[in-house]
Amino acid sequence: MATIYWNDQITDTSVEVITLKQDDLEESQALIRENYLNGNIVVIEDFRIPIDLEIFEFNSLPQLPNYGSIPDYQYNFFKTYFKKPRKTEKVIEKIYGDSHKAVKLRKEMNLAQEYVFNILANIFDSKLIYKYEPFSRLNLDISTWRFTDTVKSGYHIDEYPGINFRAFWNLSDNPRVWGFGHKINDIIQLKIDEVVRFMKEPKNISSKGFIHFHQREFNAYLNNFLNEFPTHRAEFNKYDLWICDSLKVAHQVISGDKMAGFTYPLMNNVWKVSQEIHERLDYNKYVLKFLASHLKGKQITKKQNN
Ligand SMILES: [Fe+2]
Repeated sequence: MATIYWNDQITDTSVEVITLKQDDLEESQALIRENYLNGNIVVIEDFRIPIDLEIFEFNSLPQLPNYGSIPDYQYNFFKTYFKKPRKTEKVIEKIYGDSHKAVKLRKEMNLAQEYVFNILANIFDSKLIYKYEPFSRLNLDISTWRFTDTVKSGYHIDEYPGINFRAFWNLSDNPRVWGFGHKINDIIQLKIDEVVRFMKEPKNISSKGFIHFHQREFNAYLNNFLNEFPTHRAEFNKYDLWICDSLKVAHQVISGDKMAGFTYPLMNNVWKVSQEIHERLDYNKYVLKFLASHLKGKQITKKQNN
């Protein structure tokens, strides 16, 4: 069961947390979709994927004190698996000392990836989400499996290009503790002068006077301000699965260890499938729509040189 500690001192955050049981999934699809698109966090408590969960019952690898000195394969298991397979084999052997179990571990990870894909495909639309071939290497490569103790991160919104569906699954007896609270819109509102300054930068205005910017750059810019923000706290317990759009929902990983961070890319032609979902999922549209409504009266178009 997830436990949420609301910080009474905060009044300027709008993220809501919706908690469901796995049995409620079928009837709650519209509710989940709405909340995801609105930038809230949906927790499906004690989410059991019908795979051999026992395979994940090993002790997390320790995190080394100096983050910079950790070889990639220790903290980001699968990102490097296909790039540096030999190194990763060493990690699996370190976990099990048994190559058969290592193969089984990989198989169960892949099944979990498929299972969560199907859940999201039911909630949204299977035509919206890019589906790699079952058991394809890319399929796992894009998600993140962490088998180490987590180093506390800063409070941030993710910085990556493209749009992905995200889901997080705690595999540890220890809770995964997140600081949270602000949607990207809350941050924009709190830092509106800084945002206007950013939007006025010549590189963010096209020759025709339209704002155009890269989500990665804008999120990196907003992240500069987040460490001063107080947060609420969530403890996600073993097998809790929580879904939220981490490009738009600020989060700080405070502690935790084994977990899966599933990533499913949005199809390019999403606008053909659902105009409405496209409007609300697309980062630039979402941000610009909010800015337009929030900045009524304020002008941020490029000054014309006479
Ligand atoms: Fe993140």
